[in-house]
Amino acid sequence: MTNNICCVGAGYVGGPTMAVIADFCPDKLVTVVDINEERIKAWNDSDLRNLPVFEPGLEDIIRRVRNRNLFFSVDVKKGIEQADIIFISVNTPIKEKGIGAGQTSDLRWVESCARQIKTYSKGHTIVVEKSTLPVKTAQTIKSILDGVVKDINNFGSKKTFSVLSNPEFLAEGTAIKDLECPDRVLIGGDDNDAINCLVGIYSKWINKEKVLTTDLWSSELSKLISNAFLAQRISSINTISALCEATGAKIKDVSLAVGMDRRIGKYFLNSGPGFGGSCFKKDISNLVYISNHYGLFEVAEYWQKVLDINSWQQSRFVELIVKTMFSTISSKTIAILGFSFKANTNDTRESPAIYICKKLIEEGAFLKIYDPKVKCSQIKKDLSSDNKTVEEEKWLYSDSIYETFNNADAALFLTEWDEFESLNWEEISKKMRRPSWVFDTRSIVNMEDVKKSGINIWQVGYGN
Ligand SMILES: NC(=O)c1ccc[n+]([C@@H]2O[C@H](COP(=O)([O-])OP(=O)(O)OC[C@H]3O[C@@H](n4cnc5c(N)ncnc54)[C@H](O)[C@@H]3O)[C@@H](O)[C@H]2O)c1
Repeated sequence: MTNNICCVGAGYVGGPTMAVIADFCPDKLVTVVDINEERIKAWNDSDLRNLPVFEPGLEDIIRRVRNRNLFFSVDVKKGIEQADIIFISVNTPIKEKGIGAGQTSDLRWVESCARQIKTYSKGHTIVVEKSTLPVKTAQTIKSILDGVVKDINNFGSKKTFSVLSNPEFLAEGTAIKDLECPDRVLIGGDDNDAINCLVGIYSKWINKEKVLTTDLWSSELSKLISNAFLAQRISSINTISALCEATGAKIKDVSLAVGMDRRIGKYFLNSGPGFGGSCFKKDISNLVYISNHYGLFEVAEYWQKVLDINSWQQSRFVELIVKTMFSTISSKTIAILGFSFKANTNDTRESPAIYICKKLIEEGAFLKIYDPKVKCSQIKKDLSSDNKTVEEEKWLYSDSIYETFNNADAALFLTEWDEFESLNWEEISKKMRRPSWVFDTRSIVNMEDVKKSGINIWQVGYGN
């Protein structure tokens, strides 16, 4: 029986996932370890508003389980030593340099984690890949762990490992709901005892029918393909948003009509500034890379187009804004509403806001940026590039939504935060400089209210 669980990586996946496991399995001791001291400090902060990850429902669980059977620590060695089962939940970003740069995942964190496990573990350990990894990475982890190592704590006997793939399907913004009530749990592996052990943990709150078991590679590939299909829907609807704008059709009506077909389904049919987050771009890039590797060039080209459309949507918005504002935004003030890549998260990785804001600054605009959950320091990091900081005189952080509109020539909505849906446009119109514009890339603001207040409005997927 497994009693001690360790998770290496206290990020957007490791933190919430382990909190939910600890909540449903009070008999297990769950330790989340990370090399990032600041992050662990934030997870242990007595003021729960300072947790490093914002997710609806997370604070309540942390309040219940932290220091009961969930612990956050920088002591990676001790966490691994104590564990019978270890989840690898470290970052796997796209490689920045060398072979496969810009296309395949940088596995250095996974490899160093596997080496730590090999060094510090005791007896038999189940190692679970939770990170999203390119197909056949489990084999690499196995190879690292397989070398004969003597377990000095176990009278010199050999350390043994079972490697499983258990990709995480949570979506940021709904992570807790997704973890508590997932569509499915996927476990890949070839050691039935280890698989049963992991099934035993999940079955504390998830119906066994929802737990699928496969071989390792099918499990790894399924995660990449799930993300690729989700991203593909976003790119598909975004191409149609442009067509709606050109023809005068309304994107929301089109999405509704199309999505009511059960064969298609209604989810992921909202047009916007393109997908962001740490996963979609990286996972499709990996898919393109492995397809090319196996000589499947048409397959690679097909998925590459999903990425190309995503970038195109963002650049066409920048062009449209500049063109609409009399072909120059130099010295004009633009209020930016929302910086996270989607609502209900403070994550800005690959957020469309980063590209769009940088481009607007390049065109000479001054930005006032408001987001209810993203901190100023994060925006500062995101708007710097190539070690050159974008001078702060070019943008200002705003912590009050209505003040963001003061003297602005335009307001650009980039994230679909609830609070943007019910703004007082009469009040806002008094604050903005005339002529004023709203560019709503999420089609969330009330178009009629904006028009009534005398402000010009453009919404994604709506033609004139
Ligand atoms: N964010 C999501 O929505 C999501 C969803 C499903 C899957 N995933 C996948 O899960 C993985 C983790 O994603 P994330 O968003 O949680 O990443 P993250 O960057 O938020 O967290 C990863 C953490 O791992 C730590 N770490 C790296 N190497 C370490 C080591 N050797 N020892 C201890 N700690 C180490 C880092 O310091 C960091 O805090 C990625 O592979 C990602 O693709 C992410």
